[in-house]
Amino acid sequence: MHIHKYERWWLTFGIGMLFIFLATIAFAAFADGINPPSGMQQLDPAKVASTPPFDHPGLHKLHDGSYEAYFVAHIFAFAPSSITVPAGSTVTFYVTSPDVIHGFAITQTAVNMMAIPGWVNMMSHTFRTPGTYFLVCNEYCGIGHQDMAGKIVVQ
Ligand code: CUA
Repeated sequence: MHIHKYERWWLTFGIGMLFIFLATIAFAAFADGINPPSGMQQLDPAKVASTPPFDHPGLHKLHDGSYEAYFVAHIFAFAPSSITVPAGSTVTFYVTSPDVIHGFAITQTAVNMMAIPGWVNMMSHTFRTPGTYFLVCNEYCGIGHQDMAGKIVVQ
């Protein structure tokens, strides 16, 4: 089979780029330790309502002045639906789901996770500017998906 010279260049270029990108991802994952946000914790999705701390989802203040916020994303709401923290607070969000996959995204921040049944995902954010930050589900989860929202009030 004859492959034209230019075709061969393009194939070499394309395959070369593929290996460069794969090497970049492998380097980021294994050398730099960059991974998708996850607390690597597991729980039984059928027992979320009776598994601490998700049996009492909400905001907890830590000794160092930062906060932990435990959220359950379920069809079709977040529990709690709203939390309030002082400006400058660092909040570590923990989220899980008892039913289907939901999204957990906070507007104007880099917090954007999936709420996956059986897993606890985790991300932190420092809220420097007072205001209302909306919490939205950005994974289509069913008939009431568009109603699934909450808020983070920073005072
Ligand atoms: Cu939950 Cu969309």
